[in-house]
Amino acid sequence: MNASPLSPAPAQAPAPQPAADRGTATLYGGVTNRRVTVRDLAAAKQRGERWSMLTAYDALTAGVFDEAGIPVLLVGDSAGNCHLGYETTVPVTMDQMVMLSAAVVRGTKRAMVVGDMPFGSYQESAAQAMHNAARLMKEAGVGAVKLEGGERSARSIELLVEAGIPVMAHIGLTPQSVHALGGYPVQGRGDEAAHQLLRDAKTVQQAGAFAVVLEAVPAELAAQVTEQLMIPTVGIGAGAGTDAQVLVWTDMAGMTAGRVPKFVKQYANLRAVLGEAAREFAAEVTAGTFPAAEHSFK
Ligand code: KIV
Repeated sequence: MNASPLSPAPAQAPAPQPAADRGTATLYGGVTNRRVTVRDLAAAKQRGERWSMLTAYDALTAGVFDEAGIPVLLVGDSAGNCHLGYETTVPVTMDQMVMLSAAVVRGTKRAMVVGDMPFGSYQESAAQAMHNAARLMKEAGVGAVKLEGGERSARSIELLVEAGIPVMAHIGLTPQSVHALGGYPVQGRGDEAAHQLLRDAKTVQQAGAFAVVLEAVPAELAAQVTEQLMIPTVGIGAGAGTDAQVLVWTDMAGMTAGRVPKFVKQYANLRAVLGEAAREFAAEVTAGTFPAAEHSFK
């Protein structure tokens, strides 16, 4: 068994041990019970080992992903549209991100938890970024923060890193700019845009980011960026040539209503399963067949 901290759990994973017994016991993938760190991710890049990241917004699902061996969980501001019922990520607040991130930290033992900095929480100044990143670290207990922007966010990244806060950068399509972009178009198309993307990637690396998300960029360009960077790239809609891959969990598991983006693969159809369970429950209550004798106290 490969004992890398980034190994996923085997498909037939042994039943998770009760929390009280976990202590120093190994968990999924033969990994000791400790959180994944930025050093593990840097070492994985050196070894050419790919890893996965999923979003999570609550303790219950985060615990499932942790036990499945997902090494990095992102409390994305995609919570806005995937969890809180907004149309975009723009309305999400710091208080909401602190609450959701704290729940994900509480629900996990081994994953690195990355807390997203929502729109308006870091663009004003590096000092504002520092204040809000510190909230995510202190109040929620995350191991790292993520913020959008390449060159435009470099000063904030530098300040956070100098203060000891690991920063994941996010370039390419930056959903917090949805209104300025007029939607969610693929980025980095054409020579000038491709050069800008590469400049952004190198700038966030130089500023001290430990990883960078590349969202909605042509696969070939993402592979070139990955080759030229020392830090891991995390792709979403960026082809197979990045060091890691992230998906929004509700897309990955088939919870999302309606169409999902082209780059999503649905590994389950939870929306149908859950809907069916709810319909069956309601039908049995209506018919008087639930609760039955075995669900009742004598
Ligand atoms: O908020 C989010 O979920 C993200 C991922 C799509 C990378 O930023």
